[in-house]
Amino acid sequence: MTILQSFTEKHVLKIDGKLSELIQSIEAPAILKEAMNYSLIAGGKRVRPLFLLAVLDLLEVKHPESFTVGSVIEMIHTYSLIHDDLPAMDNDDYRRGQLTNHKVFGEALAILAGDGLLTFSFGVLARLEDVPAEQKLELINLLSSAAGAEGMVGGQVLDIESERKIVTVDELELIHLNKTGALLTFSIEAGAILSSADSKTRKALKEFGYHIGLAFQIQDDILDIEGTTETLGKTAGKDVASEKNTYPALLTLEGAKNKKEWHYNQAVKSLRYISSEPVLLDELAAYIVNRNK
Ligand code: IPE
Ligand code: IPE
Ligand code: MG
Ligand code: MG
Ligand code: MG
Repeated sequence: MTILQSFTEKHVLKIDGKLSELIQSIEAPAILKEAMNYSLIAGGKRVRPLFLLAVLDLLEVKHPESFTVGSVIEMIHTYSLIHDDLPAMDNDDYRRGQLTNHKVFGEALAILAGDGLLTFSFGVLARLEDVPAEQKLELINLLSSAAGAEGMVGGQVLDIESERKIVTVDELELIHLNKTGALLTFSIEAGAILSSADSKTRKALKEFGYHIGLAFQIQDDILDIEGTTETLGKTAGKDVASEKNTYPALLTLEGAKNKKEWHYNQAVKSLRYISSEPVLLDELAAYIVNRNK
């Protein structure tokens, strides 16, 4: 077992435990909690919390709230998937190896389960106990930009608007940076904030986030073509069917792979400003670009 495998195994269990604990603590109609929980506990790679935890590992910080902040990011990510799958958006039937939220609970509850996860997340951050008020405000402020209209939500709008249209590589890069890169970069920055990292370290980590966020979404585009529905847990080939703008569609499969490799190399290069030797984040980055689901 590699260091990354044992790190992932151990931490995913703890993230899942924290997510269950958080959902159970909510006082809400049972059917709403059930819908929120349905998509959350379906699994998922938990990549965003793992990035946060790998940053803490790099900076040699043990933080009592790291799993709570990681879970918040996972809840926001899960909300984005529930909404992304709605008929009004990507119209998908499968996610994380099971029927999509709206297929089981109906569209109204799926929308509201997403709303519930999003809104609850900010409350959890506000109630963090072992984080100074200034850091909490910074986390809340940055997350609002990363997940909202200036980040993920804005990117989703550009993605939907550009369906069946021809866009340039620069325009596609902006879509990917916002719809996927912003929340991933936040996960990395959150680790830096909780570690009280200095500005040079933060700059290097932000640069890392920029490139690995793009590489992550390029691989998602590639897997839509090369992956199977069974392994992915979501329907393969949907991007082509929906005439989505993706890196393979614009640059060919080989061009997309070259672009992904380039961003991956830039990402790990920025880590060398923090550590001259490869660290766990290097391994996580390599896993991200080579994953099969
Ligand atoms: C899928 O994200 C949607 C994108 C932003 C590419 P993930 O690939 O992280 O999905 P899960 O969380 O593992 O299900
Ligand atoms: C989703 O991108 C990005 C967000 C959910 C914010 P995709 O639409 O490519 O993700 P998948 O392929 O459905 O997981
Ligand atoms: Mg989408
Ligand atoms: Mg989608
Ligand atoms: Mg996709």
